Amino acid sequence: MIQALRGMKDIIPPDNERFVHIIETASAVARRYGYEYIETPLLEETALFKRSVGESSDIVGKEMYQFVDKGGHDVCLRPEGTAGVVRMFIQNKLDKKGGIHRFFYHGPMFRYERPQKGRLREFHQFGCESFGEGSVYEDFTLILMIKDIFDALGIGYKILVNSLGCPECMPGYRERLVAHLNDIKDGLCEDCQRRIATNPIRVLDCKVDSCQVLLANAPVLTDNLCETCDADFATLTKLLEKHGLPFELDPKLVRGLDYYTRTAFEFVSDEIGAQSAIAGGGRYNRLVEFLGGKPTPAVGFALGVERIMELVKMPEKGREGLYLGVMEPQALESVLAIAHRKRQSEKVYVEYNKKSLKAHLKAADRVGAKLCAIVGEDELKAGEIWVKDLETKEERRVAIDEF
Ligand code: HAM
Repeated sequence: MIQALRGMKDIIPPDNERFVHIIETASAVARRYGYEYIETPLLEETALFKRSVGESSDIVGKEMYQFVDKGGHDVCLRPEGTAGVVRMFIQNKLDKKGGIHRFFYHGPMFRYERPQKGRLREFHQFGCESFGEGSVYEDFTLILMIKDIFDALGIGYKILVNSLGCPECMPGYRERLVAHLNDIKDGLCEDCQRRIATNPIRVLDCKVDSCQVLLANAPVLTDNLCETCDADFATLTKLLEKHGLPFELDPKLVRGLDYYTRTAFEFVSDEIGAQSAIAGGGRYNRLVEFLGGKPTPAVGFALGVERIMELVKMPEKGREGLYLGVMEPQALESVLAIAHRKRQSEKVYVEYNKKSLKAHLKAADRVGAKLCAIVGEDELKAGEIWVKDLETKEERRVAIDEF
């Protein structure tokens, strides 16, 4: 038997309802915030992710579904959405156009990670990217929008925030951090020792306990910000406080992608186990320029649909729609015509096979229909239909035309 690949899941009833509910809710909120829906390809040139997400990141270093296509191109299934949206933004010359552009998207992402609860190899994100607005108010508004999405879905969360600085303050911080890391190098895990040269900031969020003990005295990012980054971060946290958002400063929140500058944030839930991040994002003011476009400030986020599915409770579904059946095959034509008319405004199930009344009622109950309507021999002669409301148990016979 051929099975789905490890870490990849079918989204089927009854979970499909929660999946659609999340996408529809998030899309409606995003539209209210002025975001427009876009699609970008699932496959992109590998170089796009190497340059944006970063060669030294785990995503690019270990987790990409990368292959050479029939034309000899080095391509990759997208591990995240931002890089493709930025490529689209530059390719369509929106950077040259200027102004503000806000987009949302949703779809599958692929990361060859070790599958576990909440961690898949194919998973779905809903994401938003805002281009052209450098103000920290945009960062705040984006966080507020995620709050609105989670409130609409009835989900609890905590927000972790940090600032990753800018080209002015980051190099100085990096130097201080590297000096400190070299002092404690011998006690660090192998990965961290390697990262000192390739990506020292990532050492900060190492999950190995002994590394975290040694990092207790490491220089703190937010103590080393330049004046502008510091002022922006203060504005952001003040706004979060003022609006009563549940947040915590997390100076070790560095995110697993290399393109962030200034604001970085994550929404976490304590109800879904170790993989607790349900959304993540931040500002990436240098990425458009880095990929060849005109310097354009940008900020965005993505939420993980499967992780949120674990948290969303759907309201109990009542009976819905109409079940239509026949007890005489000659009645099927008129039943098909009724079904088509009714389908213009409601959900209709049609049973093509002749069955007993009892069997029809059982089938109508099984599909969750509210009304069960049957044409039998008598009804056929009289041009009528027998209708039972499966909620109120009320029965009646009415003229087909009237029905
Ligand atoms: P990310 O933090 O890598 O950010 O992913 C966003 C969300 O996707 C995570 O918070 C998590 O809920 C979900 N997720 C990530 N990996 C997996 C997995 N293996 N299985 C299930 N869910 C997963 C980004 O991807 C950035 N592009 C976000 C962004 C947009 N930053 C700026 N704009």
